[in-house]
Amino acid sequence: MSAGKITVEDIRRMKGRQRIASLTAYDFPMTKLLDAAGIPLILVGDSLGMVVLGYADTTAVTLAEMEHHVRAAARAKPQALLAADMPYRSYETPEAAVATARRLVAAGAEAVKAEGGRAILAQVRAILAAGIPFLGHLGMLPQHVLEEKGYHVKGKTDADRNGLVADAEALAEAGAFAIVLELVAAETAREMTGRIAIPTIGIGAGPDCDGEILVVTDLLGTSPGDIPRHVKRSWRLGEQMRAAVVEWRENVEGRPASR
Ligand code: KIV
Repeated sequence: MSAGKITVEDIRRMKGRQRIASLTAYDFPMTKLLDAAGIPLILVGDSLGMVVLGYADTTAVTLAEMEHHVRAAARAKPQALLAADMPYRSYETPEAAVATARRLVAAGAEAVKAEGGRAILAQVRAILAAGIPFLGHLGMLPQHVLEEKGYHVKGKTDADRNGLVADAEALAEAGAFAIVLELVAAETAREMTGRIAIPTIGIGAGPDCDGEILVVTDLLGTSPGDIPRHVKRSWRLGEQMRAAVVEWRENVEGRPASR
């Protein structure tokens, strides 16, 4: 990977050359840290709803909240490409999609991500026509978690697999620079990866995607809830942070109170 600013083209060219290790970040210090660690693609994900803002899922996240966190991440001026999620219901029409994408770019995002394939193709084309790079997201779509009653693996049946392949091809043809595949059956993810010329970046999608992405707090072990099954190794830094705070509190409390 080049030492300079990473572009959409750099990410696209990584397919077949170097696997892509991508993580989420939601603020200035974490973006600095991931950038210093050589992460080429940083996503201000709407997972911030759960791991930062305390919501039950991503559907409560607003555009104003996304802008706030994108601004904080962008102040780190990362070499990494900085992408941002378009929040739930902020891209229901091509006009709304472009307006949302422009606001995220004004906040500092260099690319935007939205969930869906052929169902949002008009929106994707409008975003790209406005000159804004687009990152796809197929498979389990967290913004649909309420309708779908949970987080379920996709691409297990022939019909589902064919639909996902068609969605991936449609996004690639439209001009997306990469596609996140979330909770996709490994064989289906492999087929999707082989059928398109842009990178797939998996999260719970088996070993054969062109890269992987994780919610950074799941990797570090600081997520407030359970760690998803696809996270093979979590660092449990949350436990160390709690121990540091307990040690400090005990030190403070252990000194005699002044009267
Ligand atoms: O919101 C998010 O963090 C994401 C990643 C899990 C891909 O979409």
